[in-house]
Amino acid sequence: MLITLPDLLDHEQVRACRQALESASWTDGRRTAGHVAARVKANHQLATDDPVALQIGTRIRQALSAHPVFQSAVLPVRILPPRFNRYAGGEHYGLHIDNAIFRLPDDPGLIRCDVSTTVFFSDPEEYEGGELIVQDTYGDQRIKLPAGHAVVYPGTSLHRVTPVTRGVRYGSFFWTQSLVRDDSRRNLLLQQDVAIQRLIQSQGDQAAIDALTGVYHNLLRLWSEI
Ligand code: NI
Repeated sequence: MLITLPDLLDHEQVRACRQALESASWTDGRRTAGHVAARVKANHQLATDDPVALQIGTRIRQALSAHPVFQSAVLPVRILPPRFNRYAGGEHYGLHIDNAIFRLPDDPGLIRCDVSTTVFFSDPEEYEGGELIVQDTYGDQRIKLPAGHAVVYPGTSLHRVTPVTRGVRYGSFFWTQSLVRDDSRRNLLLQQDVAIQRLIQSQGDQAAIDALTGVYHNLLRLWSEI
């Protein structure tokens, strides 16, 4: 399941973030890649403790906590601090899969990466290439969204970023552990939730709404891991 979150950040927020990102200290992205991913990775990233990364990361996490679609689609338990990348001059990231497990910073706990998110900080017309391509059961999905928009896709997907041949592509990416690890189950819960919300808005039959709401919570009870 691939979901777009339009206007996760508004124009003013994007403008402030871009200013900070353009003057930030970028380092070689291969330093943070695993053995396999490092062979296909060519980009620049911010250090995880970079003040710009921490500041914008906090802003992104605040926006996510107030975003009903993200909450309903992802059912987040833990979100790793957002990371930041920059692609220019032909830089790209070849086909790879993200690590399943990460260690939380300053915390003995681990996080399972069920859901990946990318937030775009460059508008599509600012650069050539730089599409995020996610392989899913229906084939390749090509994603290039306006600045401030985000895309959410399963952590189980192979994905890549095509070479940026003109301009600069700034983005943020991060991983979330969900209450429900399986993407198809999360999708069923989301569809059920959306249908219930529609019934409520159209003032549908209350007994049916109550019954469907009960099914939603009982499925969540069956499938959630906390
Ligand atoms: Ni990746």
